[in-house]
Amino acid sequence: MARIISLANQKGGVGKTTSTNAIAVCLKHRGFRVLCIDFDPQSNLSFSMDADLSDKSPKIYDVLKHVVKCRHAIQRTPIVDIIPTDLLLAGLELEFTTRGREFILKDCLQSIASYYDYILIDTPPELGILTINAFTAADVILIPCLADGYSLQGVLRLHETIGRVQSYLNPGLRIGGIFLVRYYPREELSRTARETAAMIAQRLQVPLLKSTIRHSNVIAKAHNLQKDMIAYAPGNIVVKDYIALVDELLKGGL
Ligand SMILES: Nc1ncnc2c1ncn2[C@@H]1O[C@H](COP(=O)(O)OP(=O)(O)OP(=O)(O)O)[C@@H](O)[C@H]1O
Ligand SMILES: [Mg+2]
Repeated sequence: MARIISLANQKGGVGKTTSTNAIAVCLKHRGFRVLCIDFDPQSNLSFSMDADLSDKSPKIYDVLKHVVKCRHAIQRTPIVDIIPTDLLLAGLELEFTTRGREFILKDCLQSIASYYDYILIDTPPELGILTINAFTAADVILIPCLADGYSLQGVLRLHETIGRVQSYLNPGLRIGGIFLVRYYPREELSRTARETAAMIAQRLQVPLLKSTIRHSNVIAKAHNLQKDMIAYAPGNIVVKDYIALVDELLKGGL
């Protein structure tokens, strides 16, 4: 059965989508069967994986509405398998108002979980019903966080939401860790952020991952060109950082 991992942070632009793509690619290169779910109506992940976004191909919204079976919405891209999204997903908040609406994604994924080792879910920058669905479906949450004070403060609110999901919807849910993105080892600000992150992590009893992700425009380039980042730039520092991050997670029993 696949281990389901949601990448989340309600703050925008912290590297959720980039990390979902990168971690998926690293896991694939380690020999695992990987599926990504684009659960953010912005569809950045679908684009970065060169998914077919034309009207004729089903999206995650069609799956949630039971218009198509989950397995029929999977696209095999040269990067990894993905169920793409489109803007219609944004309507979920208003359309699904019945009891149990937090479990819609979890129920849909059950039928395909045996085909994969890992299913990665990219979430939008909010703590609404989409993100709650992603948490209810998940075994593990990973929290990318920019190496600055404001981003770290947001983790406190995120942690409260995760706690509520654990209490009421998904008791088996675990936080796999916080990891710092755009971390500059030589900069004072980054070092201070790391200390703050360590304090917050300790207070919340959440792991702060040792691996950090540095800054490189090459990663954005690979995603804009819809390339597998390891094949595109194997020696790049951020590619190496993501490989180290995934190895750390695997060692920790991801
Ligand atoms: N390590 C990095 N080095 C340089 N640029 C990066 C890095 N990580 C992410 N970026 C860039 O930062 C921007 C935001 O990243 P990304 O889209 O992954 O964030 P996000 O959290 O998914 O945003 P949103 O909340 O809007 O979904 C993108 O342009 C991406 O290419
Ligand atoms: Mg994103």
